[in-house]
Amino acid sequence: MNTHNGTLSVRVARIEALTPEITRFTLVDPAGKHLPAFSGGSHVVVVLEDGDKTHRNAYSLMSSPYDSSAYQIAVRRVCDGRGGSRYLHDRVAEGDLLQILQPANLFPLAKHARQHVFIAGGVGITPVYSQLEELQLKQATFELHLAVRGPEHTALGLELQARYGERVQLYVQGVDARMDIRHILADRPLGSHVYVCGPDSMIDDTLDSARALGWTDSHIHYERFVEQGSSGQPFSVTLARQGVTIEVPAEQSLLEAAEQAGYKVPYLCRGGACGYCETEVLDIDGELDHRDDWLSEEDKLSKRKFMPCVSRANCSRLVVDL
Ligand code: FES
Repeated sequence: MNTHNGTLSVRVARIEALTPEITRFTLVDPAGKHLPAFSGGSHVVVVLEDGDKTHRNAYSLMSSPYDSSAYQIAVRRVCDGRGGSRYLHDRVAEGDLLQILQPANLFPLAKHARQHVFIAGGVGITPVYSQLEELQLKQATFELHLAVRGPEHTALGLELQARYGERVQLYVQGVDARMDIRHILADRPLGSHVYVCGPDSMIDDTLDSARALGWTDSHIHYERFVEQGSSGQPFSVTLARQGVTIEVPAEQSLLEAAEQAGYKVPYLCRGGACGYCETEVLDIDGELDHRDDWLSEEDKLSKRKFMPCVSRANCSRLVVDL
């Protein structure tokens, strides 16, 4: 396996425009070897050197977990984002080499579920691709409900309908009836698990509906589609272990600012979900702006913990244990 600084080097074998916003990249080992195995719901981080900036963007693997000859990711162009998705859309060509980190899974399937119900919106369909492949091969019972913003955004849904038939229900805005999440989740047999990935409103609606219908939290799985990093007011932070104070600009997260300054901060998802970057706050004069899904409300109120990949601060002084 070709590795460089802990990353894998992969070659872009194919680029396909799937919708006006989403492009799929097929990645292979440059020497034609097998890529590391992964499980349904996994993602990789793509590391892009862009002048004096480094983008590290996480993308779900859409290819089959049973095919190690190639990985596939789908990238939605985010026009007002940091530039990582624009870089992939505009500056990467077939044949180019990219650096990625080994796959990690923060959205795994429930092994003992009797029935798997997927709810997805837009590009939130991407982690579901590999999950359905895994379930199909295991001959498990599943169904997918996918909402898209219009007929021009149906390519991925139609591809999945061709593979899995009536188990995939598409809800095209302006064409079909709106997805009724409460109806989808009602009267499910014991042992059903629901997975949701899409806009915040869809995730919140699913969580509220499932809980109102008596689903236990252990049977509800979600992955928020978050923009990489975070934007807001600039702030200063002292990294106590390094003995330095760095500036976190408006368009960077603390994690990105620390990396750019040459300091290593542990991470996995870069989206406030996995807990890997959890950091102790040693001193603060002001307020923390928590934007993660990891810390409990109690932890957030304590002002003692902080997730540098997404959270920010409105303060005159912040010291963290990094
Ligand atoms: S890297 Fe996952 S929560 Fe920060």
